[in-house]
Amino acid sequence: MDDASYRRILSLRAVRHFTDRPLDPQHLEMILEAARWTGSAKNRQDWSFVVVDDPQVKAAVAATGDFTDPLRRAPVAILIVEEPGGYEFDSGRLAQNIMLAADAVGVATCPVTLHRHHDTATVVGLPEDRRCRFAIALGYAAARSGRSPYGGRKPPAQLIHRNRYRPSAGTE
Ligand SMILES: Cc1cc2nc3c(=O)[nH]c(=O)nc-3n(C[C@H](O)[C@H](O)[C@H](O)COP(=O)(O)O)c2cc1C
Repeated sequence: MDDASYRRILSLRAVRHFTDRPLDPQHLEMILEAARWTGSAKNRQDWSFVVVDDPQVKAAVAATGDFTDPLRRAPVAILIVEEPGGYEFDSGRLAQNIMLAADAVGVATCPVTLHRHHDTATVVGLPEDRRCRFAIALGYAAARSGRSPYGGRKPPAQLIHRNRYRPSAGTE
């Protein structure tokens, strides 16, 4: 068993502060390749990416969400575009692949919600039938990147049911 890979999955955290170091193009290429190979329902791959490294465009995208400071601080953002027919489940898998691949090459990430996605679409020129509701901020973690302000995780007893859902799980 590749214990190191397992530990990396468990230790993947959202990072919201980055150094000034530009993103290495080879790292970006590797991350996008991992994204491209994400599995999807019926292998439809109903997604595409807008890589934003122009600071002005990035700031304009950041203005379309409410908690987007990680985007402002990161050198690069990958915007996840849902093509027509795209599934949320697939987009989630895609985002996680981006974050795990980034982590594997030493790049820190934070998922970011673009609450006013119609404005996001205007900023990056999406056609009417495409939408982008999430972006991933990418960069090299700053020393002060710190821990999530939202804490750890729920205990297993509260999450895991065996054979039948028990509404009281975790409260006994
Ligand atoms: C769908 C989704 C949307 C998120 N949107 C934001 C966001 O807009 N801004 C932000 O700073 N973090 C955002 N996050 C990051 C979460 O706050 C973070 O994953 C969660 O607090 C757990 O953090 P940890 O993995 O570092 O423990 C988002 C995460 C997900 C999965």
